[in-house]
Amino acid sequence: MTAFTIFILAVLAIALVAFCTWFFASIADGKCPMCALKHIGRGKLTIDIKKEPNYENNVSSTPIMGWSSWNLLRNHIDEDAIYGTAKAMVDSGLAEAGYEYINIDDCWQSSMRDEDGKLQADLEAFPSGIEALCKRVNALGLKLGIYSSNGTLTCEDMPASLGNEELDAKTFASWGIEYLKYDFCHNQIITGSTPIIEFADISKPGERSQMRLRPDHAKYTGRAKTVKCTDLPSKQGMGFLNHGAGTASFNVDVPYGGEYIITIHYHKTAYHKKQYMQVVVNGRVYEVHFPSGFSMSHDAKVQAEIRLDSGDNKITFQNPVVTMADSSYIQYKRMGEALQNASRGWAAYTGKEEKPITFSICEWGFAHPWNWGRKAGNMWRTTMDITPKWFRIKSIYNKSVELYRYASPGHINDPDMLEVGNGKLTPDENRAHFTLWCMMAAPLVLGNDLRRLADGSSKSRFLIDTLTNKSLILIDQDPLVKPAKRIKRSPALDILARPLANGDTAICFFNKSAKERPVEFDIDSLSEYKYLNFRRAPGNYEIHDLWTDDRNAGTKITATVPKHGVAVFRISQ
Ligand code: GAL
Repeated sequence: MTAFTIFILAVLAIALVAFCTWFFASIADGKCPMCALKHIGRGKLTIDIKKEPNYENNVSSTPIMGWSSWNLLRNHIDEDAIYGTAKAMVDSGLAEAGYEYINIDDCWQSSMRDEDGKLQADLEAFPSGIEALCKRVNALGLKLGIYSSNGTLTCEDMPASLGNEELDAKTFASWGIEYLKYDFCHNQIITGSTPIIEFADISKPGERSQMRLRPDHAKYTGRAKTVKCTDLPSKQGMGFLNHGAGTASFNVDVPYGGEYIITIHYHKTAYHKKQYMQVVVNGRVYEVHFPSGFSMSHDAKVQAEIRLDSGDNKITFQNPVVTMADSSYIQYKRMGEALQNASRGWAAYTGKEEKPITFSICEWGFAHPWNWGRKAGNMWRTTMDITPKWFRIKSIYNKSVELYRYASPGHINDPDMLEVGNGKLTPDENRAHFTLWCMMAAPLVLGNDLRRLADGSSKSRFLIDTLTNKSLILIDQDPLVKPAKRIKRSPALDILARPLANGDTAICFFNKSAKERPVEFDIDSLSEYKYLNFRRAPGNYEIHDLWTDDRNAGTKITATVPKHGVAVFRISQ
């Protein structure tokens, strides 16, 4: 045997011993080790969301249109820049063309929360505060949006909302905010681990408990079962609740509905990591976090306030988290629900009309939010950040165009904000970028300096004309929200088409190559694609060129597409 073989065998033996130790320690700790292994190699959601309702807050059923501070100003923002931009949005005619959100991105916050624990604006850059700024922006007929992160800090290390969702949502609603971009920096993934639950007591606030949920009364599903605590065999509890292994349920009868306290007694091992469990009461989810640490005692308790109905209630203990996507889904849904409750609650409190908050999920496509975003929010980022570089715009398009099936009214793919007018993009690249975003039914969130649009320069006139192209905005805002399908893909030229609510079809020829290309397209061939729902007409079609505004009749499209450019048409019968 060579030294190398001995080395390999030794490594394998150590790995086997480590695995067995972990495997049997997990079982002894009341956990299903095989269930914990299910996450390996899976970035996708394992929680079954089929029966969950879609996120509905009666707002932004078509992609939002507005401006965000990030692409232009990054961390150097203040209230004058934000208000100045809002004013320019109105003065330049952009507001009239449909742009309405002024979104403040990262770095609006002070590093200090206020004495009530609420987020507050940077005390020097936003001396009047966000509420006052919001009122001024609203007075222009526009809506104010804001930014936070689903982490302990934002991407620029400012205070963020993980663990403070309810409070922050209420704060935003009370300021009059109508859009929240919720980022993913400094995120803490929820663990799939759950301790052995020895029992739980249910009491009315201010009273001793009358009701105990014990392991021998539980109805178990999956692998969940009553287990002995190996380091204290006299004790037993509900085990194998980890990583979606199973659930423990109880029927609880109470004479009066209302708020109750559930006190969950759990088993602590000598050294324990953070753990997690959901208490589901009649379908409502309450989350319980068990801290990490070294134990002085073998048991501990956590409490949650739950709402019981009078009569029979079903209470279930579970931990459905297996993958990072499961964790993200739970956390984004948590904030989405907090926003809905906050805007409703604020309207009820003030007696004013509700201002629903568009909820924008920004986790860069990591956990495939197109699979679950419609259950948690209004829109979801499909990729990492855009930059004003042609190759980056093309690569974001390439990824996002494939996701056309996932969008629907109120639930939108977000390939990130526009870079039109930024960097060194050529006029054709600017038009192509804007057109592709309209074809993909993407949010039209501008990132250029609107305050300069009044300077009378040819660049500004070009930008205003591009960004207010009514015919293209109508494509973007089509109420069907069916993004374009790429019906032809080649290294040089893509053809995209999308069905429109009035029966028309939008078609776009995208020349990715570095030289001009002629195209000729037989319109009847659109009927080959079920998604387009295209019916062939007996005679000619009306062909509207959405950049030149020419209208022709015919059955063929012929055009010359500039390099890095587009030709885009609306076809009517
Ligand atoms: C990134 C996000 C950007 C911007 C930035 C702010 O994660 O994708 O769009 O919001 O954070 O720090």
